[in-house]
Amino acid sequence: MSAASAALVAQARAVLGHAYAPYSEFRVGAALAAADGRVFVGTNVESASYGLTICAERMALGAAVAAGARTFTRIAVATEVDPPAAPCGACRQLLAEFGTDLEVVAAGPTSERRWTLAQLLPDAFTRESLDR
Ligand code: THU
Repeated sequence: MSAASAALVAQARAVLGHAYAPYSEFRVGAALAAADGRVFVGTNVESASYGLTICAERMALGAAVAAGARTFTRIAVATEVDPPAAPCGACRQLLAEFGTDLEVVAAGPTSERRWTLAQLLPDAFTRESLDR
């Protein structure tokens, strides 16, 4: 694993402790690297109205977009399970809005998995799908 990838995983693991997950007790931390070197973090935030829960990956993406970032190279997603959990479908779809070359690294306590977003979301529906 590259030093940059290891550092991003460390940031995802560090923020996992801030997750607000009192219902599922499934804590997730995400760290999204922008092409300009900035890193944006997110955690899952749950709600007593369960369906309002937002995932860590989309929280990180929202922070990034609000800060003006639009181009991303890698996302690390930290969970407390092995094998590490892959991003959910909704997160894959929203991340795909900004490109499917993104490297996705899932990190559990003792293992990691990695893919490109294109591998996780083949034949993605994107803005090009809207062209007519
Ligand atoms: N969760 C994430 O944060 N990211 C994912 O990609 C999958 C699921 C959260 C949502 C919920 O708070 C908890 O994990 C259990 O589903």
